[in-house]
Amino acid sequence: MNLAVFASGTGSNFQALVDDPAIFPAIKLLVCDKKTAPVIRRAEQAGIPVFVFTAKDYVDKASFEQEILDELARYSVDLCVLAGYMRLIGPTLLGTFQNRIVNLHPSLLPAFPGKDAIGQAYQARVEETGVTAHFVDSGMDTGPVIAQEKVVIAQEDTIETLTEKIHQVEHRFYPAVVKQLMASGKEVE
Ligand code: GAR
Repeated sequence: MNLAVFASGTGSNFQALVDDPAIFPAIKLLVCDKKTAPVIRRAEQAGIPVFVFTAKDYVDKASFEQEILDELARYSVDLCVLAGYMRLIGPTLLGTFQNRIVNLHPSLLPAFPGKDAIGQAYQARVEETGVTAHFVDSGMDTGPVIAQEKVVIAQEDTIETLTEKIHQVEHRFYPAVVKQLMASGKEVE
């Protein structure tokens, strides 16, 4: 199975996928919407081709998603793995890749969708939060849940320690989910 990873920023989750020897050979492409994102350097170091674009250079979402689709076809991509891709997926990509786009989100969805989910959970003073992997639909962090893992928010946690805890869980959790999907072929049901 051929994977494309989509990311917008630091790329620590991209790195966790690259560092997994069972996943690395399947990663054919990084799709990135920010020319300055550190994740690009990570891909270059791993020898993974990068398609980078700037949304405002296009007339609309359908135009850049069509280019993404062309790239995905070029690398015969079967599954799109969103890892910190901070952009809603539109009908152009969803139409071709329905049930073949998976997203990672740093909360126990449906709680705290959208931006800064870790900060939202921390501010809400809930006792636990977590991470979710789900198939992508047209909504913001909606779509069928594949797996979740809880993370306890301790009394002494700061936003920094909580963020670190969530990221540590993500780096173990997301590669495991991706391997499960690769093994089961569930995304093409
Ligand atoms: C991760 O925490 C991921 O769960 C989150 O962005 C971060 C990316 O970090 N994704 C979302 O919030 C999606 N709604 P990274 O660039 O270091 O992998």
